[in-house]
Amino acid sequence: MGSNENIERKPRILVLGSTGRTGKAVIANLEHMRDSVEVIYSSRNSEQVEAWKREGKEAVHLDLDIPQTFPAALVGIDRLFLATGYTVAMVHQSKNIVDAAADAGVQFIVHLGIFGNGRMTDPHFAWHEMVERYIEGRGVAWAHLHPHFFMDNLLTTTPIVDGKFFWFAGDQPVGWIAPDDLAAVAAQVLAEGPKRHSGKQYWLSTDVLNGTEAAAEIAAGLGQPVHGVVLTPKDLIAQVTAGAITFPPSIEATYAASMLEWVRQTYEGLLNFGGVTTTVEDLTRRKPLRLRQWVEQNREAVLAAGTRKLQEAV
Ligand SMILES: NC(=O)c1ccc[n+]([C@@H]2O[C@H](COP(=O)([O-])OP(=O)(O)OC[C@H]3O[C@@H](n4cnc5c(N)ncnc54)[C@H](OP(=O)(O)O)[C@@H]3O)[C@@H](O)[C@H]2O)c1
Repeated sequence: MGSNENIERKPRILVLGSTGRTGKAVIANLEHMRDSVEVIYSSRNSEQVEAWKREGKEAVHLDLDIPQTFPAALVGIDRLFLATGYTVAMVHQSKNIVDAAADAGVQFIVHLGIFGNGRMTDPHFAWHEMVERYIEGRGVAWAHLHPHFFMDNLLTTTPIVDGKFFWFAGDQPVGWIAPDDLAAVAAQVLAEGPKRHSGKQYWLSTDVLNGTEAAAEIAAGLGQPVHGVVLTPKDLIAQVTAGAITFPPSIEATYAASMLEWVRQTYEGLLNFGGVTTTVEDLTRRKPLRLRQWVEQNREAVLAAGTRKLQEAV
């Protein structure tokens, strides 16, 4: 049992997924808090670790698929940002890193989960909820983050293609959350630590919009027309089966199947509890980014994602 939260030094925070969308943004926030925290980057890619070190960053090699890499990476770590990728392997990866963190004396685990209420049946939602229950039983202080639908999915799984925004959940909405706000909340919880946040759960959902409403906000953000194409989960399955829609390579097959189930459950209205949350404002004391603003700020990237998708299709 190594580190503890009572000693008079800056808490050392290890960020998993430091190259990922959320992890990178969490790190960017923590970098602005250097007066009060130490930030430790991590990657499964040794070259990336070396590149960070050359930039003067503290960085460790950690591969979630290789538990033997955990003990060395966790030496002297006080707080852990636990983020996993789009894979069913997240279940055993999370169990193993939580065990190792507890053994290494980590004092606080902040978990990046999903917008769930503890009773979710969609597979990847259920996996995340099992991880949460496991963390809670491990004897380390914890806080759970529950973001709804990332706005930056517009750059990956749901791009605007040829002026169209495809929505396969019928007229049902989801709660959009800006990655900037998720990262700001995550960094603040990590930096303020267990005294303030132990046992807390933070649900993040800024704009509750269905496909038609989202298309209108995206159009306003881009300053050009976007048509919301409202379809059903059956349409999505038909398009995936025909090869017209493919998942990015970073999304593993079992997780991808769960995403189809997520669309079905959203269509059935099973996932729309909670509505808009005030978490971002409550914690950070600033207003969260609305979808329109986020698109405005990321206009080039949103347009480029659609262009890439079109090029892939020809
Ligand atoms: N998209 C949404 O709307 C949404 C909503 C709610 C919750 N979530 C949750 O958000 C999480 C994904 O967050 P994200 O979008 O930030 O992910 P992401 O951009 O795909 O990043 C995943 C990160 O995990 C790292 N990683 C993958 N496998 C690893 C391994 N074996 N060892 C060490 N690191 C590994 C990746 O590193 P490499 O660079 O080496 O690949 C990358 O840094 C998932 O748990 C998902 O369920 C997503």
